[in-house]
Amino acid sequence: MTEFDLTIRNGTVVNADGRMRADIGVRDGLIHTLAPSLPAGRQDIDASGHWVLPGGIDSHCHVEQISSNGVMTADDFDSATVAAAFGGNTTIIPFAAQHRGMALPKVVSDYHACAGPKAVIDYSFHLIVSDPTPQALQHDLPDLIRKGYTSFKVYTTYDKLKLDDGQMLDVLHTAGREGALVMVHAENNDIIKWIAQRLLDNGHVAPKFHAVSHDPLAESEATHRVIALSRLLDVPVLIVHVSGIEAVRHIRHAQTLGARIFAETCPQYLFLTADDIDRPGLEGAMFCCSPPPRDAASQEAVWAGLLDGTFQVFSSDHAPYRYDESGKLPKGEKTTFKDMANGVPGIELRMPLLYSEGVHTGRMTLEKFVALTSTDHAQMYGLAHRKGRIAVGLDADIAIWDPLRQTQVSTHMLHDRVGYTPYEGKSLTGWPTTVINRGRVVIAHNELQVARGSGEFIARGKPGPLVNAPASTGSAGFLKSLLPKLS
Ligand code: URP
Ligand code: ZN
Ligand code: ZN
Repeated sequence: MTEFDLTIRNGTVVNADGRMRADIGVRDGLIHTLAPSLPAGRQDIDASGHWVLPGGIDSHCHVEQISSNGVMTADDFDSATVAAAFGGNTTIIPFAAQHRGMALPKVVSDYHACAGPKAVIDYSFHLIVSDPTPQALQHDLPDLIRKGYTSFKVYTTYDKLKLDDGQMLDVLHTAGREGALVMVHAENNDIIKWIAQRLLDNGHVAPKFHAVSHDPLAESEATHRVIALSRLLDVPVLIVHVSGIEAVRHIRHAQTLGARIFAETCPQYLFLTADDIDRPGLEGAMFCCSPPPRDAASQEAVWAGLLDGTFQVFSSDHAPYRYDESGKLPKGEKTTFKDMANGVPGIELRMPLLYSEGVHTGRMTLEKFVALTSTDHAQMYGLAHRKGRIAVGLDADIAIWDPLRQTQVSTHMLHDRVGYTPYEGKSLTGWPTTVINRGRVVIAHNELQVARGSGEFIARGKPGPLVNAPASTGSAGFLKSLLPKLS
């Protein structure tokens, strides 16, 4: 037998559907052989005492993206992918963000120009659609979907991004016809603006009022509304960054009705609360994202939703802005909660946090962890033909985890360019020590091993069956038979 390019031996291979003691032989970037015992390849890794997991897929992160208020993220495709790789990821799916007036094909080619020379791991793009013109709906989106951009995010909030319900239905209708997945940021814009204006008028400007203005009812109402729009057309929707107990309940209820509603949550809703935002001075800005972290009851509801299958994916929503005038504090000491860039970093800590607090504590099986951090991202977003499992014929995307490595989180050990972490000082057990993407050892011995630009763009296909499939009774979609006539 020809020698393998790489072997990983003596470890325990864990997929979303089970685990086995197996050696892995890699050839030409693909998993070639899984067997109880293989001879050492040209490069050989001893994984004794380690978990051998599919590389993480972070399907929600903002990289080299300009926000609707014109603020550029602190991370580009170099720093974001390096940080992602150190945190056990082998693929990210950030956004190619359309601002109004921009043509989608140009948006996509601009993001490719940014990512191509810099990414160190594989990447794909969701689109952000803020301007669903007839040209976008009838021509550009179908064309881009065929080219492998099979998901897009839309907003019910932010003045410069939000779609009204009619536009949302237009986008859902196009997605349903073309087989794409729509991700929705669901918060009621008018509720948030109305509260925020009254707070500002009364001199309440501190970061903690960000959480007050983003009342859980704003999320609850918009989530319920988006579910109704999705059910009306029987077009699947994934609600992103779900934070509050009421939103979780709406999603769960819709799933039990058979609606094709999927959901994502993020570390900030498991490990932070609104109390973290209530810090002296402007420090709370470091914990502000939308929706904001909530209370202990919502945290528990999110944990329960991860365990009971309400959520299919756990992503970072890495939105990297520095705690200075370039991001969180555009007006220095005079910055109000309405001026700050929205979002928190988390691309490197997403998996170590969930491993430590979920798997290490015994709250979550390792198989569930794999499904939530890798496999169902691949299934949901059309990457399963290449990624999300350790199986013969798939890309050799592998993270070797030391289950006992102790880490105390500090911003100095992280590889993003944010300059702070909301999880400073947290003690974690378990860390990915060797990370392999298409057979290339990307991280080993705590060092980056590959060159900038060696990551590849991955065109995506249609969604596949989920591990964390929500309960479905098939009662949704009374308009389905009319859809061809509506096209
Ligand atoms: O606060 C957040 N999540 N900022 C990033 C943009 C978004 O809406 O995901
Ligand atoms: Zn969002
Ligand atoms: Zn986001």
